[in-house]
Amino acid sequence: MSHTTPLYASFRSIGAYIPKKILSNEDLETMVDTSDEWITKRTGIKERHIAAEDEYTSDMGAKAAAIAIERAGLSTDEIDLVLCATVTPDYFNMPSTACVISDKLGIKNVQAFDISAACSGFVYLLSLAKAFIESGMKKNVLIIGAEKFSSIVDYTDRSTCILFGDGAGAAVISATDKKEEAFIDVHASADGSYSDFLVTPAPGSRNPASQKVIDEGLQYVQMKGNETFKLAVKTLTKDVKEILEKNGIASEDIPHFVPHQANYRIIKAVGDALKMRQEQVVVTVHKYGNTSAASIPMAINDIWESGRLKKGELMLLDTFGGGLTWASALLPFAGESI
Ligand code: ACO
Repeated sequence: MSHTTPLYASFRSIGAYIPKKILSNEDLETMVDTSDEWITKRTGIKERHIAAEDEYTSDMGAKAAAIAIERAGLSTDEIDLVLCATVTPDYFNMPSTACVISDKLGIKNVQAFDISAACSGFVYLLSLAKAFIESGMKKNVLIIGAEKFSSIVDYTDRSTCILFGDGAGAAVISATDKKEEAFIDVHASADGSYSDFLVTPAPGSRNPASQKVIDEGLQYVQMKGNETFKLAVKTLTKDVKEILEKNGIASEDIPHFVPHQANYRIIKAVGDALKMRQEQVVVTVHKYGNTSAASIPMAINDIWESGRLKKGELMLLDTFGGGLTWASALLPFAGESI
């Protein structure tokens, strides 16, 4: 690749880590006043995976990342940027989980940092990786979405504890001069005026750790579920239609629509608005729940490992989360088929 050739970002590999322990709807029935029927009907979730007590966000992220690096056919010393999206970092807020993951992988003397964009984190990272690569600053960017969401969930609050799960997904984004492998487009946006829709009030400069924080349970995620739901459907439908129109691509020509896995009803509403056929829409929410920044890479990993996602096939990603943030991306899978 000469430096006069345009550089494009390409999605070269995918990996994921799913913790062993399963928390089923039946388990939750014994913990809070809920039912498998309610959870299934309102969310589509049947079970979610929960990390072990001594298994941290960085452990899951490092395992997913090691798989992605190996599948990209690279060694760790070829990675020149490590980015992690998480709202459940190992530490609040130093060192970054990206630094801890780099250390676990033996990646040294390479820029590493976290971003906080809740469920939109992974697609936000795609926009960063694209910018770093197209500017010529980096060649092989490791991006990771990893969450131990169970660490901020109140398992006595039925309105949130049924939704979330743990896990990690990672991808290697590499420079290429092949236009057919290039990302087509990434949109990422936010509106902080809705910041009270999804909040973890503590710890932070507003509510440093204290007995009051513990007594009031301010360390747990709080969500205005119904308001978030309505805004998610409206915003995502508009955003996804825009990215398709802008790039002259028809929804029927997308083999893999990979939406954020928060609630099956949101996925179905957006899929229906795009007139997607069932086989185009990737659904994993029934088995993983909402794993926030890990949700999209875990879903991509699922279709890759099952042989559904092949080299060169187009993916449409969309996501919505705390901030509020949202993002969408159109890109081909540039890695090898299984
Ligand atoms: N079991 C039984 N009943 C329940 C449960 C439960 N687990 N949870 C709530 N209810 C009850 C409520 O108390 C309420 O009862 P009431 O009518 O007597 O007051 C009733 O069910 C309806 O509650 P709603 O909150 O209006 O239910 P809704 O249909 O909106 O579903 C849900 C709730 C599943 C949370 C939905 O709103 C949702 O998925 N929201 C969006 C989540 C999302 O997309 N988040 C963004 C990403 S997350 C991130 O960024 C980290």
